[in-house]
Amino acid sequence: MALPPGFLDELRARIPLGALIGRRVRLTRAGRELKGLCPFHAEKTPSFHVVEDKGFFHCFGCGAHGDAIGFLMRADGLSFMEAVERLAAEAGLAVPRPNPEVAAAAERLASLAAIAEAAAEAFARRLHLPEGRAALGYLHHRGLTDETIALFALGWSGEGRGALLADLRARGVTADQLVAVGLMKQDDPSRPPVDLFFHRVMFPIRDRRGRVIAFGGRVLGDGQPKYLNSPETSLFVKRKTLYGLDLAVKTIRSNAPALIVEGYFDVIALHQAGFGGAVAPLGTALTGDQLAELWRLSPQPVLCFDGDAAGARAALRAAELALPLIGPGRSLAFVSLPAGEDPDSFVRHRGPEAFAALLEARRSLADLLYETLAGEPGATPEARAAVRRRLEELAGRIPDRTLQEEYRRHFRDRWYADLRARRSIGPTRGSAPRAARPLLAPARTRMLRERSLLRLLLAHPWLLAEADEALAAERFSTAPLERIRAALVAGAGECAGLDRPALIDHLREGGLGDALEAVIGKEAADSLHTTMAGARPDEVRTAFLSGLQALDPDRLERDLDDARARLAAEFTEENVRRLALLVEARKQLLAEEHAP
Ligand code: UTP
Ligand code: MN
Repeated sequence: MALPPGFLDELRARIPLGALIGRRVRLTRAGRELKGLCPFHAEKTPSFHVVEDKGFFHCFGCGAHGDAIGFLMRADGLSFMEAVERLAAEAGLAVPRPNPEVAAAAERLASLAAIAEAAAEAFARRLHLPEGRAALGYLHHRGLTDETIALFALGWSGEGRGALLADLRARGVTADQLVAVGLMKQDDPSRPPVDLFFHRVMFPIRDRRGRVIAFGGRVLGDGQPKYLNSPETSLFVKRKTLYGLDLAVKTIRSNAPALIVEGYFDVIALHQAGFGGAVAPLGTALTGDQLAELWRLSPQPVLCFDGDAAGARAALRAAELALPLIGPGRSLAFVSLPAGEDPDSFVRHRGPEAFAALLEARRSLADLLYETLAGEPGATPEARAAVRRRLEELAGRIPDRTLQEEYRRHFRDRWYADLRARRSIGPTRGSAPRAARPLLAPARTRMLRERSLLRLLLAHPWLLAEADEALAAERFSTAPLERIRAALVAGAGECAGLDRPALIDHLREGGLGDALEAVIGKEAADSLHTTMAGARPDEVRTAFLSGLQALDPDRLERDLDDARARLAAEFTEENVRRLALLVEARKQLLAEEHAP
């Protein structure tokens, strides 16, 4: 009966439990569960529950409990292997012949896992010896508590030269076995094997069920490579493994969001900050196997990426990977962090609340694709057609027909809305322009905000063609700012066609040299190079809208409350987008106010 590891998991994953049981029992949906009259005892009110995403049934009446295999055993009186055979036939899987070889392999795996476990214990022990003091200090310095260090079973490798083998020899572990679990290597058969990890903080990598299957090690200090992973072994298949999954499973099941981040430290820092659903691939791009693992737990894992160009590329790559795999109840969402931060540094610098706000403002897969590929509708019919073809092609990769249709519709709706918005950027809410009003808000903050709006316009003159109406409804708070604003509104038509230096010259010639200096400083045009240099037009547009929203901080807070309430009431793309925009606006403002 020794089935190869993973076979039963595969089998369970392929058989939708609701459908299997639904053939015998009339089930109705109640939230995330299915309910019906228990087939194993007589009852009149349903106390039999099927929890599909967790793959088990449970009867609160008679206590019957089990998975798909258990159900068939009970319902049809089958033996374990008979139930497995039946399910495998249904799933189109061949049951591997139980044979001595397989049994031997299973035993070998079990003993490899035991060795890996023993090594993890040895590393953890070393961390708390005097020789581990620097490593322990490093972990504390990075903000980890002793509790967290213990939870992740972090350790210290020692300085190599056979230290690990010396620790484990007493337990009957041999050098060959340490080579087999990837902790020692033997490049030259005429010499004894050597330690793979030395002078490193050790991160045991555990499988879904918590068995240690491999290790990562971070060099203490600045050596290279920064991280080292043990090689793939019969226990450790990189593309199927997610760091932190063993701990995240429980948390995600209790309804915390599943988060995908990049590194070991990101996972650990997030767990410590209360985001226990965080996992990471192991130094490689996300794979379909890893997504499938997460989809068993959560319909919409959230990918967290750095806010820089590399992060945007990685997000797009993940989105394209996901498209042929998504379906109803299987999707992704995206969060991008401010440039220069990873989740670890973000929670340390700005706290868990700020991270929760980022999560609240996550973008759907559909929006991420749209915004990355069609953010700028294009100036010519040819350019616009190319973008639309690309969107069409992307939607076509979704296997589920209904969902494919919905993506097409979503892309189309946003496309036309953006074309309309391009002609004039109006106020973000309601159609009438806001009445001009004198503003009292804390003067300096307000002034800084006005100034950055003007800088943005001066750096991207084309924006004037769309922004003049909204800008006309404002009154700025100092004379120089107000003069520039008025000049830009009055001359919006012609100014929008100028490039940056020409616009500056134009304003100077109009006698606004002094006012300009108040806005952009003495270096004038040069300082504008840094104002969202290289940003896509849609990013510039968003920044402008957020900036405008934020001119009145009370209004911003009110709008945030309002947007949160709407999102809580109804989870629509539109509501997510509105909240995202406002959160982004507040983030930018905070960053600006704290900038030197
Ligand atoms: P990063 O370089 O972003 O590091 O690598 P980090 O996680 O922020 O590390 P700290 O904060 O400096 O400690 C992200 C992930 O990429 C893999 C590791 O899995 C790492 O956690 N990686 C990175 C490697 O496998 N090898 C390397 O040399 C560097
Ligand atoms: Mn980091």
